[in-house]
Amino acid sequence: MINLSSYDRVFLLTDEQAAQCCLPVLLSQLGQPDLAATLVLPAGEQHKNIQSVQQIWDWLFAQQATRKSLLINLGGGVICDMGGFAAATYMRGMPFLNVPTTLLAMVDAGAGGKTGIDYGSPMVKNGIGAFAEPVETLLLPAFLQTLPAEQLLSGYAEMLKHALLDSPEAYAAFMSHDLRDTQSESFAQLLRASVAFKERIVSQDLHDNGIRQILNLGHTIGHAIEALGLSKWQNGKWQNGKCLHGYCVMFGMVAETYLSHALCGLPAEVVSALSRFMLENYGAAPITCSDHDALISLMLHDKKNREQGAIVCTLLQDIGSPCIGQTVTPAQLREALEYLCSL
Ligand SMILES: NC(=O)c1ccc[n+]([C@@H]2O[C@H](COP(=O)([O-])OP(=O)(O)OC[C@H]3O[C@@H](n4cnc5c(N)ncnc54)[C@H](O)[C@@H]3O)[C@@H](O)[C@H]2O)c1
Ligand SMILES: [Zn+2]
Repeated sequence: MINLSSYDRVFLLTDEQAAQCCLPVLLSQLGQPDLAATLVLPAGEQHKNIQSVQQIWDWLFAQQATRKSLLINLGGGVICDMGGFAAATYMRGMPFLNVPTTLLAMVDAGAGGKTGIDYGSPMVKNGIGAFAEPVETLLLPAFLQTLPAEQLLSGYAEMLKHALLDSPEAYAAFMSHDLRDTQSESFAQLLRASVAFKERIVSQDLHDNGIRQILNLGHTIGHAIEALGLSKWQNGKWQNGKCLHGYCVMFGMVAETYLSHALCGLPAEVVSALSRFMLENYGAAPITCSDHDALISLMLHDKKNREQGAIVCTLLQDIGSPCIGQTVTPAQLREALEYLCSL
């Protein structure tokens, strides 16, 4: 557990939801530390912007925080990304501790050194940011007890991605886990293994120039589905609005494992097992054949696709054997989307 006494003062940033659900748990875990000040921001991605960062900077200046102070970011990916960025830039950088409270933030946003905010008009997601690593990422699965089921599933998709990339053993352990359980020691082990896997990859390529790109599995097609923003899963059915990131990654992974089978020899059983897992837990993808042109055009305009007219994906030769930089043609993508829609 982190030693807070090595900092001159400790500040805490959170959002309204995490303040209510998670702050009392954290304070008791840390032994009721003496916090210099707490800033509670409204919850939600729409607040991950420069106005909120300015509010954090102004607050830190008003409180006379120094570079020897610590900022604790208590919240989901929005608070970890934005608090990390505000800390990385305040007086050229103050230390920060991430305490992720959503599953997605625990396995993904809380570690890995990417901080930032959405910026511009039209809005560019994570358009402004910096690479900056937290002094530590504190994992407390107790927070997951108040997390809505769809937020939990969103995080599970990124855990499944890590397991698929890691090894057949990690994948088997994930697939045999009961998704309703987030409080057992076996879940804590899965969680730690997932974070350790991401940290192992990031430590080899912090700036995303090589091996870190394996973490894009499911994201080429997933991001396009997310950008289309067709519908979201709520109250047991699809409704108008934005589909949660992890759901889109799950749909993207199914389509990309189909491509992996066709182009890299991934065994067909993996594609069918993953498709069944998706249908059972996430439902069918909220897209139809009439969306394919729009999805392909979104992927062609993705900045990751350097070659004109081609789309670059991370695919799998087998579980635990990813291959980055695979070029996929629009015709092959259309076939993968047709497969996804047929499920
Ligand atoms: N830096 C990275 O590497 C990285 C990786 C993945 C995602 N991200 C970023 O993370 C963000 C998404 O993260 P998110 O899904 O955690 O979203 P989020 O931070 O918006 O949290 C989702 C909702 O859950 C609430 N919440 C948080 N903890 C809770 C709890 N324990 N119980 C009940 N409610 C709780 C939040 O208040 C919010 O309303 C995006 O902005 C994305 O860009 C960053
Ligand atoms: Zn993701």
